[in-house]
Amino acid sequence: MDIQFQEAQAAEGQAGVLLVPLFQGEDAAPAVRALGRGASWLTGHMGLEDFRAEAGKLLLLHGGRKGSVRVLLAGLGRREDFTPKVLGMAMAAAAKRLSGHKLARPALRLESLRALRLAGRGMREHLLEEAVLGARLGLYAHTACKSAAEGEDAPFLPERMDLLYTRPPSAEEQRALRRALSLAEGICLARDLINGPANQVTPRYLEETAAALAGRHGFGFRSHDQEYLRANGLNAFLAVSLGAAAEPRLLVLEYAPPGTKGEDPVILLGKGITFDSGGISLKPAAGMERMKSDMAGAGAVLGLFAALGAGAKDFCRKRVIGLLPCTENMPGGRASRPGDVVKTLSGKTVEIVNTDAEGRLILCDCLTLAQNMARPAALIDIATLTGACVVGLGEKTAGLFSNDPRLRDKLLELAARNGERFWPMPIWDEDLKTLTEKSAADISNTGPREGGASFAALFLKQFVDKTTPWAHLDIAGPAFQSLETPTLPGGGAVGFGLRTLLDFVLE
Ligand code: BES
Ligand code: ZN
Ligand code: MN
Repeated sequence: MDIQFQEAQAAEGQAGVLLVPLFQGEDAAPAVRALGRGASWLTGHMGLEDFRAEAGKLLLLHGGRKGSVRVLLAGLGRREDFTPKVLGMAMAAAAKRLSGHKLARPALRLESLRALRLAGRGMREHLLEEAVLGARLGLYAHTACKSAAEGEDAPFLPERMDLLYTRPPSAEEQRALRRALSLAEGICLARDLINGPANQVTPRYLEETAAALAGRHGFGFRSHDQEYLRANGLNAFLAVSLGAAAEPRLLVLEYAPPGTKGEDPVILLGKGITFDSGGISLKPAAGMERMKSDMAGAGAVLGLFAALGAGAKDFCRKRVIGLLPCTENMPGGRASRPGDVVKTLSGKTVEIVNTDAEGRLILCDCLTLAQNMARPAALIDIATLTGACVVGLGEKTAGLFSNDPRLRDKLLELAARNGERFWPMPIWDEDLKTLTEKSAADISNTGPREGGASFAALFLKQFVDKTTPWAHLDIAGPAFQSLETPTLPGGGAVGFGLRTLLDFVLE
């Protein structure tokens, strides 16, 4: 669905339905007045009086005469509970509701957002961004694997949505629209990749996706195969890939805005396990199908590049490198065994006590590689790394680990602004001996079950230079949801982390 600004008068009579957000328990008159004469029939309409505007509730009203504009009231709940995310949810629900109707052109008046009378710096743009993103995400569906039943019409989707204005949109509002549309593009790509089954979304499929993005938008791109891993000493990454028949790939994407070629880059490292069976330390069968989503970190980074390509790069002043180690983790005759020892790219040896702790193995070599490639201004890894993080923080919250308080606080601030739940987690350096003392090598890839998320982070930290600002985002919980919400129809892949990371590179 295209979403664009449109002068209100010029669009008169073309809008199929006006979306009108309302607060619960508040007088609807200002909102109705903001709609202009076309909706004067709404004044005193009983439907309007009956509508309580609870969060997520919708009511479609019309004047009864042909040609009069229809109105879709969207409840926001109580003002005191409001966050911009609530508006996104309401617009998502509204867009979804319209997808069943033959109302060709939904429209939202910028005045309707102003009529909400929400104060705060940048609030207007923020609301606009949230509304646009919500409307787009509300229409997301992963249907690639469903065959159309015979004689069944394709579901009706509105082709475009107008953002109606009487005063031309400000530069900030235009920027908010472009950002939201780019984000939507990126998030939908990430969702498609993460929801896609592992027999289709293989490391080579991710390679093709990255190559296509690079070709379309002029990003730097390189792809390395298993031979490269062997020849260059990325033996921990190699060890994970050995059990799989699918070929591994190490993908490198780069966006350098004009004049930044020599600058220290932001490096985003995304875990790309296209399927995590656990390897020889095989996972139990129940729920294993979910492990197609173990490349959600890589999916978020690819989505971020898609967002840059879709227009966000016009606002980006930083050099950004995406580093994506992609492989399956499978059992097999050549697979790594528990107890195997590998020499990592850093020179440190690792005992693979549990082959299911594979994420840290592919990441540790890439952390070293990232710091060999450049001096990162920030090095951020994003990974569905530990079940322990899900147990500790719940399904909806990601863990944030860092060696740099400034980077940590910045990411927390951006996450809050973007409605993504990240929570600061500790790394206990003094517990390192738990990983090293009883190890047959310099360090083991697993520690005790208790505190598993922090031990994973502590392991990764051994591969990061003290002077490198580094953050580790454990998104095992929020990456893939069993329950649906208006902005996540059908549940499944969220595209989690992309918003915060995009905001970080646009700062
Ligand atoms: N991909 C999993 C972590 C995971 C769990 C992601 C649940 C999403 C939902 C990871 O590779 C893994 O298996 N971790 C192990 C580590 C353990 C063996 C030290 C875990 O969390 O059990
Ligand atoms: Zn995994
Ligand atoms: Mn695993």
